Order: sequence, then structure tokens, then C-alpha cells
Amino acid sequence: MKKNHIIAIDGYSSTGKSTLAKKLAKALNFIYIDTGAMYRAITYYALKNHLISDRHFDKEKLIKLLDRIKIEFKTNPDTGHADVFLNGENIENVIRQMEVSNFVSYIAEIPEIRKKLVAEQRKIAQNKSVVMDGRDIGSVVFPHADLKLFMTASPEIRAERRFTELKNKGLKVNFNEVLENIKSRDKIDTEREDSPLIKTDDAIEIDNDHLNQQEVFEKVMQLIKEKQINPV
Ligand code: DC
Repeated sequence: MKKNHIIAIDGYSSTGKSTLAKKLAKALNFIYIDTGAMYRAITYYALKNHLISDRHFDKEKLIKLLDRIKIEFKTNPDTGHADVFLNGENIENVIRQMEVSNFVSYIAEIPEIRKKLVAEQRKIAQNKSVVMDGRDIGSVVFPHADLKLFMTASPEIRAERRFTELKNKGLKVNFNEVLENIKSRDKIDTEREDSPLIKTDDAIEIDNDHLNQQEVFEKVMQLIKEKQINPV
């Protein structure tokens, strides 16, 4: 039987992980899984059910309701990429809004939630070749991934990119709010107790402050060749 391959992409928020992951998945005919979208889906569920706000967070209730949360990925024929669905509802766009971004790190800190999503991520990749991006893919989800990348870039450059992306989607945004959100998520993601964002020793660091998207893609395709990861 042909071995399935796993490419793990971790790194800070807005470092271009998903752009790179989508391009790689397309070039190799692998499945792309955006694990951040899964944490965002639970955040959206918590907001919609009034379990989290600026003033309160009913963590126990959310944990009790986890079995009722069904997250799926389905290919969007218009974009060719997989959209995320929560209990049958396409939430691909709503989960990118600042309201979700502002709360998602608190949701991603909860061990019960991480346990559920890590199990689902491993299940998705059973017998399939995947490109998966997130914060703990190379460290926790797939410690034996064929290739591990760790993406970095300065907070200002990342905020600039995220700001433009949100504005282009027609969303109302403020640059300083985007920058503050990025800095605060970096802090929570790297300092949390369960599965903090770390660069494992075997991960290859890609600093994309000085490389454009195409240069990053070409560099990684070269690494893929060296590792003899073949398209399916
Ligand atoms: O990649 P993103 O910005 O959409 O991720 C949203 C949040 O989810 C991010 O602040 C950290 C968390 N996350 C995580 O803890 N583990 C993952 N594998 C993916 C995302």
C-alpha cells in the first residue's frame, strides 16, 4: 500500500500558513485542512449560544455541549477549497470576523476542546495525504509528519496583511485593532499550558518578512522534492 503523507504547517497567526497550505495541496493533490477554522467554529458556536462574551464565559456548559458540535469540511465548487460547516451551516466567512478572532484563543486553551479536535484531525488524515495548518500540528497532532514547517513574520507585517484581507472581504476593520488582536493571540497561543505554539527541533523555519508568497511556495516545493514527497 502507498504511504500517505502529512505536511504540517505551524506558526503565528497571519503568517501566510493557509495561503501556502492551499497552494501546496493543489500542487500535490493533497487534502488541505485548516485546523484554525475548527477552533473558530467552536468559538462561533459559543458566541451564538451566548456562552461567551466580554463579561462572561460558561466554560463548563460549552464542554458539556461539545458532543452536539459537528464540524465538517466540504469542497466549495466555486473556489475549489474546502469550506467549514458547523452542524450543517456553512460558516466559512463568518468565522473570519473580528468578533470570533477576539475570543478564539480562549476557546483554544481548553484541553477538552483540544482533545476533541485533535482526534478529529487525526481521523481526517487516516489513509489520506494532507497539508494541515495550525499551531500544534507538528508538535502534537502529527509528531511524525513527513515535513514540518514553522512560519514567522513580524506582527506589523502580519497585521498589514490581515487588515487588507478583511477590508477586501468588505468587512469593517480598524488597523490597530487587528494589530492588537495579533499580539494578544501570539501571547496566549505561545503561553498556554496545553499544546502551546512551539517550533519543534525538526521543523524548518520560514521567515516570510522578506519572501513573497511565490518565493515561499518555491522554497517549500524544493523541500518537498528533497523529502521525496510525491503528488497523489
Ligand atoms: O489559524 P487561525 O488564526 O485561524 O487560528 C485561530 C486560533 O485558533 C489561533 O489563535 C490559535 C488557535 N489554534 C490552535 O490553538 N491550534 C490549532 N491547531 C489551530 C488554531
